This record gives sequence, C-alpha cells and structure tokens, in this order.
Amino acid sequence: MSRPPASHPDYTRLPEPGPDMFAAPLQRPAQVGEDWVEPAQRAYSSEDDSIWNDLFARQLQVLPGRAATLFMDGLERLDLGRGGVPDFGQLSEDLGKLTGWSVVPVPMLIPDHVFFWHLANRRFPAGNFIRTRETFDYIQEPDVFHDVFGHVPLLADPVYADYMQEYGRAGWKAMRYNRLKALGALYWYTVEFGLILEGKDVRAYGAGILSGPTEAVFSVEGKSPNRIMLNVDRVMRTDYVISDLQPTYFVIESFKELYHDTVDRDFDRLYRSLGPGFTYANTAVIDVDDVLQRGTQEYLLRGGRGSNAQPV
Ligand SMILES: [Fe+2]
Repeated sequence: MSRPPASHPDYTRLPEPGPDMFAAPLQRPAQVGEDWVEPAQRAYSSEDDSIWNDLFARQLQVLPGRAATLFMDGLERLDLGRGGVPDFGQLSEDLGKLTGWSVVPVPMLIPDHVFFWHLANRRFPAGNFIRTRETFDYIQEPDVFHDVFGHVPLLADPVYADYMQEYGRAGWKAMRYNRLKALGALYWYTVEFGLILEGKDVRAYGAGILSGPTEAVFSVEGKSPNRIMLNVDRVMRTDYVISDLQPTYFVIESFKELYHDTVDRDFDRLYRSLGPGFTYANTAVIDVDDVLQRGTQEYLLRGGRGSNAQPV
C-alpha cells in the first residue's frame, strides 16, 4: 500500500526511503558519505583530457543546426570547449552565477532518492570517470562526457534549471507512491531524449542524444522514429529502450511549456491513477497523439543495434 505523501517535505534533508518503498540495493563505496559525493573530482591524465577533446570535437561537427539553440548557448557560456575535462569547481562557480546550480562528482551509480535529493537542491551529480578509446563510440553507463557535455549546458538556462529542480522534488513524491518507473519515463523522454520545436525545425535537447553522434542525426532527421508532441500523461505510461536508438521521440514547444506541464500537474492524482507497469509500447502511436512524423521503424525492423541496420 502506498502512503499519501507529506504535502511540504523538507528538501534540505536527505530522505529516508520508507519500508514500503523499493530502493535498488547499491553498495556504497567506502570513500563516500550519505550524500554519495566523492571527496574530490578525479585527477585526469592527458589521455583522459584528449578523449574529452576528441569527443567534444566530434559532437561539434554534428550538433550545429540539430541541437537546441539554448544548448549551444550553454556550451559557449560555460566554455566547455576550453580543453580537457572541465573542472567541476570552476563549472559550479560559473553555473552558480547564472542559475544557482552546481556540479558534484559521484560514483557511476547512486541511489534514486540521493539523486533526486541533489536535483531538488540544484546540484547535478556527475560521474567522475571518462570512457576509454576502446569504448569511445558506445558506453553502457554514463561517463563524465555524457553527464557534463550532455546535461550541464542547459542548466545555464533559468527555466530548464527550474524544471530539473522540480524533477528532483517530483522524484521524491514518485518514490512515496512507488511510481518511479513512470517518472523515469518522463525523464527519459525529456531530459535524456527530448526534442524541441524551433520555428518549423525540430532540434534535440536531450543529453542522451547530444552526447553521441548517431542519435543526434537520427532523432532529428531519421525516417524511422516517430516524432510526437509531448503529452505528460501519455509519456509517463510509455515504455522506452535503454540500449538502442529510440523508436519514438517526444517534442516540446518550449522549456516554459515543459515546466508548466509538469509542475502545474496534480501528480498525486496521476500516481493514484497509474498502474505499476507501462500501458504503451515504445513504438505505439495512439489516437490522442499529435504526430509530427509517423516513423517507418525501418531501423528497428532491420534489427537495430547489433545488426548492420543503418540508422535512417
Ligand atoms: Fe544522462
């Protein structure tokens, strides 16, 4: 049974997951405390820095004209291309002046309630490690390039910065209702794989898209995927793919609209109405959808990742 949440939780205190909440068991490394923040950012080798520089240069070849303008602005304002893995202290100082956010180093995976707690306090937890040349093209777990290059530029935008904080607060509530999967789908289809309209163009703002070269093109220009205007209720009922290109992307009009669509929603009511599983398959197009493109799903039908299917 889920307990009704307290109406005004104290977000400064780390929440204790209750006995009826599911929290994935994670072994806390000896060097981190309750907040899971590493004592210091890793000292990167010159090879690590050159991997960052090469990843950065590769993305800059594909992102102009495909990434959201506010993302490109953020990259520049935070000077993420100054060379080498950015220093989190410097980054936090720059970001702090713009929106009050900071970036803190954490181990690869941290518990959900700790992640939400950091977001609710305008701290972005970023993985410390960077991929190797062997895993240059594809990594399972997010590294510092995904986390900092992909997520941090938009935190320089005040409206997006507020959305991320509200997401952290919403996470807390979702845990109390045991509906993390549904809220996870919202994160997936916005923060990680979101698209945004700019005039008549569709551009990408999701970190999962922007931190790799293939999906940056596929999501915006591919014939395979569906592109559907975002509807929060629908998205929170939709399954998603973790280890391949998405069959469906959801498109927002603006960050302001995303913020209000989310924050002004009665999540208590929504969580009570949601079942524990997903209702819609990740390829589904349903009658309430405002469809920008109905995808051919050719990439998926030809076998997706692991086959020699072209991401078209
Ligand atoms: Fe991410």
